[in-house]
Amino acid sequence: LNSLAVQATHVLLDIVHCPPEANLYQTLREESETLLKTQDAWNSAETFNKMHVMDSAIRESLRVHPMLIKGLSKEVVAADGVDLPGGTHLAQGAWIGVPTLGIHRDERFYPNATMYDPFRFVRLREAQAEASGNGGTEAANDFDAGKPSTTYLGFGYGRRAW
Ligand code: HEM
Repeated sequence: LNSLAVQATHVLLDIVHCPPEANLYQTLREESETLLKTQDAWNSAETFNKMHVMDSAIRESLRVHPMLIKGLSKEVVAADGVDLPGGTHLAQGAWIGVPTLGIHRDERFYPNATMYDPFRFVRLREAQAEASGNGGTEAANDFDAGKPSTTYLGFGYGRRAW
């Protein structure tokens, strides 16, 4: 639960540090007030799935300020080590991982990569929905905060992260 506390702190700090002209706080409040009108709405996962701005603000925070700067850490346990396809030999006891922060702040994947842009994933979600021709945004969940990809590793990657 330490991870939850650390990441939730980043999310809140990113939201309050966002320049006022972005209108983020007001937009988030409006989204919540619109969707969370009744007790039933609070109890429904469906409601939270519709909070696309909140979701985007959270995903963007995990992108710019991931909990781990290096992820997927694994120790080589095979006695003879492991030979990678490129010829590199990893001896037993070596640790390997992926540079989460470097990937998250890579301009090839995210224009203005070091900037916290809370609406980044709302735009991508809408563009994907439009391109898919369904006209709505419900089907476009590739940008949900909890959805990992090779360029979004806030929760790690692979079987345990899905
Ligand atoms: C916003 C909240 C959270 C974030 C950002 C987060 C992120 C992560 C990350 C980055 C890893 C390491 C993945 C890797 O690189 O190998 C991880 C592993 C793990 N997390 Fe979380 N986590 C969160 C909340 C939680 C909570 C609430 C629980 C449990 C109730 C949890 C349980 C685990 C477990 C069990 C693993 C180890 C998985 C494994 O390697 O077997 N996480 N988490």
